[in-house]
Amino acid sequence: MRIDIITVSPELIKSPFEYSIIKRAIDKNLVEVHFHDLRTYALNDYGKIDDYQFGGGAGMVLMIEPIDKCISKLKAERTYDEVIYMTPDAPTLNQQIANTLSLKENIIILCGHYKGVDQRVRDLFITKEVSIGDYVLSGGELGAAVLCDTIIRLIPGVLGDETSALTDSFQDNLLSPPVYTRPSEYKGLKVPDILLSGNFPKIEDWRNEQSFERTKKIRPDLLED
Ligand code: ADE
Repeated sequence: MRIDIITVSPELIKSPFEYSIIKRAIDKNLVEVHFHDLRTYALNDYGKIDDYQFGGGAGMVLMIEPIDKCISKLKAERTYDEVIYMTPDAPTLNQQIANTLSLKENIIILCGHYKGVDQRVRDLFITKEVSIGDYVLSGGELGAAVLCDTIIRLIPGVLGDETSALTDSFQDNLLSPPVYTRPSEYKGLKVPDILLSGNFPKIEDWRNEQSFERTKKIRPDLLED
């Protein structure tokens, strides 16, 4: 898989790709991530990429020309399955969206900034819009990093234990059950006996039950579907 990220702040988004599981995925060539500084495609030598909005109002809007130049250059080099725009006024990211995107070959992610992008960018180039939650960030970069993390960890070979992504919270619309490790007792707090019993079918039943109870208590909305 190849991910091209278009941003006005490449330095802001790079570090999540330099650690842990995501770094290992890149080192193993399971995913390629490329960052494109929108200012490289600026209209003039001063790096102009944004302007005031027509009709008045506070906040700058990213202009269409630099974004067009960048996306067109990438599209001339290869075919993209999706051109994604990170913005708060979009459907919220969930596990289902991550699952679907993890199967794609090439994707572009455009990070919004300031007041966002000229609407014509969305009309012309964007095939999918994603928000990471009902709050406003200073830009789409942190959202893009979250989206990439959710996608990359699902690519086969990225996680050591191939099944562990499947048992994550949300894969079956349920939250994960509680987990414990050594010591089996700490300051009087004991690990549930069932987990020490070695009876794996019973442990599985217990975990399913805990998942359901947790979901009912913390996120009953997930059970409505
Ligand atoms: N840009 C600003 N806020 C955002 C959000 N909530 N999700 C994705 N991109 C954003």
